[in-house]
Amino acid sequence: MKVLVVGNGGREHALAWALAKDSEVFIAPGNPGTARVGTNYLVNATDGRQVADLAVALSVDLVVVGPEAPLVAGVADAVRAEGIPVFGPSAAAAQLEGSKQFAKEIMEAAGVPTAASRYCTTQSEMEAALDEFGAPYVVKNDGLAAGKGVVVTESREKALAHALDCGQVVIEEYLDGPEVSLFALSDGTNVLPFEPAQDFKRVGDGDTGPNTGGMGAYTPLPWAPAGLTDEVVKTVIQPTIDAMKDRGTPFVGLLYAGLALTSKGVRVVEFNARFGDPETQPLLSRLATPLSRVLLAAATGKLGQEPPLEWASGFTCAVVLAAEGYPGTPRKGDEITGGFGEGIFHAGTAEVDGKLVTSGGRVLAAVGSGDTLDEARLAAYDVAGQIRFAGGFNRHDIALKAAEGKIALPAIYETDKWKS
Ligand code: AMP
Ligand code: GLY
Repeated sequence: MKVLVVGNGGREHALAWALAKDSEVFIAPGNPGTARVGTNYLVNATDGRQVADLAVALSVDLVVVGPEAPLVAGVADAVRAEGIPVFGPSAAAAQLEGSKQFAKEIMEAAGVPTAASRYCTTQSEMEAALDEFGAPYVVKNDGLAAGKGVVVTESREKALAHALDCGQVVIEEYLDGPEVSLFALSDGTNVLPFEPAQDFKRVGDGDTGPNTGGMGAYTPLPWAPAGLTDEVVKTVIQPTIDAMKDRGTPFVGLLYAGLALTSKGVRVVEFNARFGDPETQPLLSRLATPLSRVLLAAATGKLGQEPPLEWASGFTCAVVLAAEGYPGTPRKGDEITGGFGEGIFHAGTAEVDGKLVTSGGRVLAAVGSGDTLDEARLAAYDVAGQIRFAGGFNRHDIALKAAEGKIALPAIYETDKWKS
């Protein structure tokens, strides 16, 4: 099969790597990592015409759109109009990620549990909402913000400043409890869940500092309640897919539910309309089912015929190596050594005069695997330790609490419903 992957991040490197096991892979535009598993084509990933023309010229069997920006820009629609199967939602369906307020409306229509929230555009609305919910304050930019539009703070002043800065925001109730990322493939009707993963959003050790796109991830979750995936499919994923279909905007692609396991039950923190980064790197490193087959099945309305996904035993863990300054303006152009090898996925890298250099905030992800979570995280840090560039940094505590058995779940998850 011939597959075109759209995007240039670590997620696209992982997608291209997994697809290349049984397919010929092209990446638009890709990065130096994807160039090692397929062929890069220098096109603008958010330009639907350019991507559709390339897909036609290469006569691919499937196009997989990775990042949110091309999805929201309608790249999947442009390719679909050429009659080529696409894994990735239409612009209309990608609003599940593109607008926090749209996501809230769908969740309300579908009866999906999420934080109570207010949509605000004026200072008086913002202040009223901040005071209604109280600290810690949660303020979300309504539009796409590359994982950095959310401020969670004890400071009303900082919360209000962020809200005014954004202009249109969703202010919501703070959700306590461990976070889970659950991915599910959908063909618009049927769903096929991944195993759960956990992402580390804050830049600093011990969950300190500002939010990022994600500094590390691991899977599966040894502490997750037994029935978690089934429960989330039943109460979150399937109702959302049904609601999107009912509105005439079926969701074909990957629905990412960011969840909090609160003391009142599972609540949706956010939806994304695509594979998460860096969760994709460890998840696809364990996926045993051929990725090409299930993505094509989703793109062609045939997911109902697919058995549950199969996974290698054990654990995988990803550690992100970031450039100095991230999640603010990152320092770029530093030479990277040890940047190629097993378990290394490229994101903000470039090749200049034959040298690999940094070119973005999240530079690379190092993935390790092991029979235990502790082994997997140590293996990931081993891979990370082989890579060097000036100004680089990473978190040191990815998967640490889970490996030490220190993640505490609220009592509600001890009930029979969760033990089934
Ligand atoms: P989002 O882009 O909506 O996923 O938010 C980014 C991160 O901010 C999440 O992964 C959480 O860590 C945090 N966050 C977002 N919404 C809430 C909330 N209502 N309560 C607590 N933390 C939140
Ligand atoms: N890892 C979080 C995201 O992809 O948005």
